[in-house]
Amino acid sequence: MARVRFEPSGYETEMAPGAAFIDLTDEHPEAEVPYSCRSASCGTCRVQVKQGAEAMLPPEDDELEVLEIFGDEGDVRLCCQLKLAKETDLVVLEVCDP
Ligand code: FES
Repeated sequence: MARVRFEPSGYETEMAPGAAFIDLTDEHPEAEVPYSCRSASCGTCRVQVKQGAEAMLPPEDDELEVLEIFGDEGDVRLCCQLKLAKETDLVVLEVCDP
């Protein structure tokens, strides 16, 4: 398992390896991650991975293309594409400004 904290909401929960963050945040809207397309097109769900990046599956090409459009650094990911690959103590995701 991994403990997951969302900023700026401060909401915390747990998730298992293999799980998708979009499913977690659908179950827990208190996390306050905004979505629109849900398919790596719009960039609405961009989050900065402040802790736990090593436990994530790497981005695929469609995600990288969107992040490049926004000019984001390597620690920014699309929450709609983000999956936990392995157990870790803590993941911290901060929702990016639109
Ligand atoms: S919701 Fe559009 S890129 Fe994630």
